[in-house]
Amino acid sequence: MRVFLTGGAGYIGSHTLLEVLSQDHEVCVYDDFSNSEPEALNRVAKLTNRSFETVEGDVLDRPKMRQALIDFRPDVVVHFAGKKAVGESTEKPLMYYRNNVEGTLSLLEGMEAAGCKRIVFSSSATVYGDPHYLPYDEAHPLAPTNPYGMTKYMVELILKDWCTAQDDNTAVLLRYFNPVGAHESGEIGEDPNDIPNNLMPFVSQVAVGRLEKLRVFGADYETPDGTGVRDYIHVVDLAKAHAAAIGFAGDHKGCEAINVGSGQGSSVLDVVRAFEGASGRNIPYDVVERRAGDIAEFYADPTKAYNLLGWKTECDLADMCGSAWKWQSQNPNGYKPN
Ligand code: UFG
Repeated sequence: MRVFLTGGAGYIGSHTLLEVLSQDHEVCVYDDFSNSEPEALNRVAKLTNRSFETVEGDVLDRPKMRQALIDFRPDVVVHFAGKKAVGESTEKPLMYYRNNVEGTLSLLEGMEAAGCKRIVFSSSATVYGDPHYLPYDEAHPLAPTNPYGMTKYMVELILKDWCTAQDDNTAVLLRYFNPVGAHESGEIGEDPNDIPNNLMPFVSQVAVGRLEKLRVFGADYETPDGTGVRDYIHVVDLAKAHAAAIGFAGDHKGCEAINVGSGQGSSVLDVVRAFEGASGRNIPYDVVERRAGDIAEFYADPTKAYNLLGWKTECDLADMCGSAWKWQSQNPNGYKPN
């Protein structure tokens, strides 16, 4: 198939690009490199020995994106491009709504102009909000608690209406849990612009000596060891879920929301111990106050992903930490020169 990847140079985008190229699809990456590096694309090209088109552009640049879609004539779009920092979204909500919601509207208009009727969308488990029950299944009520989550929820609603309006449209809404880790080569991985907000990149940077100490946000939750519990998923497993969703979109119609998680919860201290095991480094930490807005515990019911996509996770926490460490130790400054 002809696959158009918005945000294809980013962390999840680049791993999916690699997976999709290895399945012999034709690809065009559309990325503005605002939170990604062109070097990630060079590395994917080298690892796969495949070429693909790249258009440097912003999802808010409607004429450019429309022309790129008309020129490439995709069978399916995978839409990663978007802002993704929860904390920043509470400070700059308008920027988040404009980028994530308006960006998707422009994309859908461009897809219509190009005759493309299929989209796989990067949604998030954050659409569920505070758990009414666990594990979250796809029927759990949706009540995001921050502007970032609201943008994902709004785009889900837009895509649902888009599929209702024309019954040959298809949207697969992939609700990611906590993606971590890196490709086994250690050549591509997560490269946050600033000090990382998320646990795994923070721990990686402590292990490599770029940051001094982890702060564990609360050890008084009602969880087995008192620290927050999440459903971590290896980014390569997540990339494979996208490849499966592309296949599914090829022969199904309508809108489906699908959890992409392992079904297993791990605590902050589980991650610290697994990372120490994988890296052979000590991870010093202090327990500090809870982080505002954090939920004690959540994890996925991934049954629907298996039933519809034939997909389930294959990697465990040790694989996630081992690959994150390989990437971080080979590239202590990410894609920037060492
Ligand atoms: N944590 C720490 N110290 C840190 C960073 C995180 O103790 O320096 C803890 C958090 O309190 C939480 C756990 O580690 O218990 C995971 O935190 P992350 O920031 O890595 O991930 P979140 O679950 O908060 O958020 C992630 C994504 C969001 C997404 C959400 C739900 O960052 O984009 O999962 O899918 F919305």
